Amino acid sequence: MHMEKTINFTVIENGIQIPIATRHGSYPSLMYLLKEELQLESFGECGGVGRCATCVVTTKGISGNSALKDRNEPVTLSKLGFHEAAIRLSCQIHITADLNGAEIRILEL
Ligand code: FES
Repeated sequence: MHMEKTINFTVIENGIQIPIATRHGSYPSLMYLLKEELQLESFGECGGVGRCATCVVTTKGISGNSALKDRNEPVTLSKLGFHEAAIRLSCQIHITADLNGAEIRILEL
């Protein structure tokens, strides 16, 4: 039987730590969770197709497949000069247990 477990991670915005407790698939992506829960304006403007890069975050401690970038993500990020593995498009990260214990920092562009 599949048990729904709480997923816990921390978001850092302007130096303030915000604990997040959520469930698998609670939002279509991490971008939507951040946009809604932190009420971020002009965040995730392309609606999550990986093109606008208004959903950029710095990540620490993401595990499993969620730590890997798909093909479009590095292309969009490198156009902005971001090549570090820790810098991600939050719209390309699903809400899964891979986020447990992670630290997600909202990047100020
Ligand atoms: S929402 Fe546009 S790149 Fe993520």
